[in-house]
Amino acid sequence: MDSLIRQIRQRVPMGSLDWNSAIENAFPSLEEQNLLLSEVTKCAKLNPFYAKHIIKNFVEKLERRQRDGDESGLDDALYEKLYELLPSKALDPTATDILGYTMKTSTENCKDDAVVWIRESPRLISGMGTTGMRTWEASLFLSQYLGMVLDGSSEKSGLSEESNRKIFESVRDDFVGKTVLELGCGTGFVGIYMLKRFGSQLKHLIFTDGDTQLIDRMSSNLNLNDLSVDSKKLQVRKLWWGEDDLPMQRVDTIVAADVTYDASVIPDLAEVLDEAMSQDNKVYGRVNVAYIAATIRNEVTIKTWEEYLEMGRQDKIWTWEIIESTKDPVCWKTSLQSTNQLDNIWYPVGVAEIRIYKISRVVERNMTIED
Ligand SMILES: C[S@@+](CC[C@H](N)C(=O)[O-])C[C@H]1O[C@@H](n2cnc3c(N)ncnc32)[C@H](O)[C@@H]1O
Repeated sequence: MDSLIRQIRQRVPMGSLDWNSAIENAFPSLEEQNLLLSEVTKCAKLNPFYAKHIIKNFVEKLERRQRDGDESGLDDALYEKLYELLPSKALDPTATDILGYTMKTSTENCKDDAVVWIRESPRLISGMGTTGMRTWEASLFLSQYLGMVLDGSSEKSGLSEESNRKIFESVRDDFVGKTVLELGCGTGFVGIYMLKRFGSQLKHLIFTDGDTQLIDRMSSNLNLNDLSVDSKKLQVRKLWWGEDDLPMQRVDTIVAADVTYDASVIPDLAEVLDEAMSQDNKVYGRVNVAYIAATIRNEVTIKTWEEYLEMGRQDKIWTWEIIESTKDPVCWKTSLQSTNQLDNIWYPVGVAEIRIYKISRVVERNMTIED
């Protein structure tokens, strides 16, 4: 029951609420029913449709138990709430909700959870001129990967092959004590997770997106996570690839998720990476590495992306490799197919493959990594 209450509080996708195991052993006491009612009442303020779904499921499951002979009582207040919520309809796609994403990295220790709170339009694929009004699965996957590597649980749960260990070590080096810039941050999920969970390990984090509405919304998502735009640890700025300049400061590492969603945006994305890694800026130095999570929705789009990566490799600007994929995850023991989840990330079944590309700047012989 506790975990159910937690899931409701964190507003996870409805399909993943684990009703059966929550009420399997004992009929919830009146006190527990009351707790559920109070959580549902809080949820209903933002998303009455979601609240209706929860309470309806709960009542139906318990009524079934009563029919099977359980004589425990159901609080009338639950029926009253359900009756009140019955007319509620699914949120308009542009409406916002606040979602709590539980990002657990260590498989053994529940206290490791970090909940990232995001106000977003979860049902909006594209609208108001951007695709960044909701959090995309590539953001969750990239964050979970970086989280597992940074807290060392990748070694515990992944394969212990030497080559993998080397990759994990190099990923750690790219983040610890480094300034990180996120491209196309959308709701800001990746950066917020990194700051919340590993803020003390990072030097600085710069959130960027080309869309000014998203940039304006960032302060509210930062506040939901006890972070502030005024913090010295972070910056939020508009960066439209190929149009706005990169920040005039040293950036070591770029991260981005689901920014390769359409072939039309790839040339500008490649241009900004090229600028970051090849521009001879003696004052600020060059970006060393980029971690880009891409969802493989369309083979043609991904071919275009990889062709651009190849061009950069041939021009000796960078090398690139795929370091992780949901298809054959190195970092996770469990597989998507068997659990419908990649450990603790919850995805709808059938989400397309997500890959993490690592793009490393070629360091010429007479240069150091600091150049
Ligand atoms: C599919 S969304 C991904 C958002 C977020 N990274 C996530 O995974 O949830 C793509 C993001 O890239 C941004 N974007 C698209 N084209 C851009 C460009 N040319 N310059 C800067 N940002 C761009 C959009 O505004 C949007 O926020």
